[in-house]
Amino acid sequence: MEQSQVEIIPVDGEGTFWDDRPILLAGLRETPPRVPGYFGYDAVGSCLFESITKLPGYYLTRVEYGLLQRHAEEIADLIKCRRIAELGSGSAKKTRVLLAACVKRRATTYLPVDVSREMLATSAHELTAELPGLRVQGLWGRYEAGLARLRDNEPEPVVVAVLGSNLGNTTPEERDALLSKIADTLRPGDGFLVSTDLQKPAEVFEACYNDPLDRSAFARFRLNHLTHLNRRFGADFALEYFYPRAHYDSATTAVQAHLHATEDQTVALRKLGLELVLRRGDSLNVGLAYKFHRPQFVADVSARGFELSAQWIDAEWQYGIFLFVRSAQSRRPLPRCRK
Ligand SMILES: C[S@@+](CC[C@H](N)C(=O)[O-])C[C@H]1O[C@@H](n2cnc3c(N)ncnc32)[C@H](O)[C@@H]1O
Repeated sequence: MEQSQVEIIPVDGEGTFWDDRPILLAGLRETPPRVPGYFGYDAVGSCLFESITKLPGYYLTRVEYGLLQRHAEEIADLIKCRRIAELGSGSAKKTRVLLAACVKRRATTYLPVDVSREMLATSAHELTAELPGLRVQGLWGRYEAGLARLRDNEPEPVVVAVLGSNLGNTTPEERDALLSKIADTLRPGDGFLVSTDLQKPAEVFEACYNDPLDRSAFARFRLNHLTHLNRRFGADFALEYFYPRAHYDSATTAVQAHLHATEDQTVALRKLGLELVLRRGDSLNVGLAYKFHRPQFVADVSARGFELSAQWIDAEWQYGIFLFVRSAQSRRPLPRCRK
């Protein structure tokens, strides 16, 4: 019988990672309280994110897809190696353009890392059905656990991809730690392929990250964070007492997605032993999307032990894909990622 081309490997505590109480507690104790990004991606959340990518104003997916369509062949030539890992792969709909170019050149193993098991399994099967010659080893868990698995694995060269501007969904501290972990995982000559959304006027971001009048994709995605916390942590958030709104904060250069309380309320999260007291108008942060200044971004990544090898920028939308190579010198100790 032909060997299956798809494997899904739990790499993060056999799935107990959803009960990651200290990380959630620390986020909820910030001002305003913050739900760390990956808590939005249960099975429902992952599907809701897919509907966001189809909103007419959500330019990120469309622009990145266009860049990949135009440049996948060139990227595949530059990448050269047989293993491509991706942190936060989601549906991998855009990545498949690049993978198609890679399998034309060489047998390729794709190692997507994602907390959403359902999305990981679905995308893995779709990809291998569409791209003969592709093997998929889905690493189910958080980024850090996926990277640890790559490091423990065979010494074959690898490219780590972080697409969809995912790196911008982390706080500067999380980004610092993640970039360092990627650098420590890779060997000299390995690749780091990363896409980011770049600075532009606030009104462009606010139109992109809020629902148009006739849709509710962002609203459902953001409120689903509360449904998820109710289910996993015995919380009693009443969804009807919150309304979602995203704004661009020029001080932090991040789009901040908030759920605003419409009433005074006390929410109990039983399994965390926590009570959140919210006044009308208070907000919970359920999403961050940092926007970067291109030279600063390149400098921040380079300082962590990488050299820029190539970049593809959509001039109209100011969105970029960057290919770095892990350099031979160890990285210099640096101040944290600038905001
Ligand atoms: C914004 S979506 C982007 C998906 C895809 N890269 C794209 O461009 O359409 C973020 C994805 O990263 C995953 N994710 C977020 N934080 C994660 C973490 N800390 N560890 C593993 N996966 C994570 C989510 O489950 C989700 O599939």
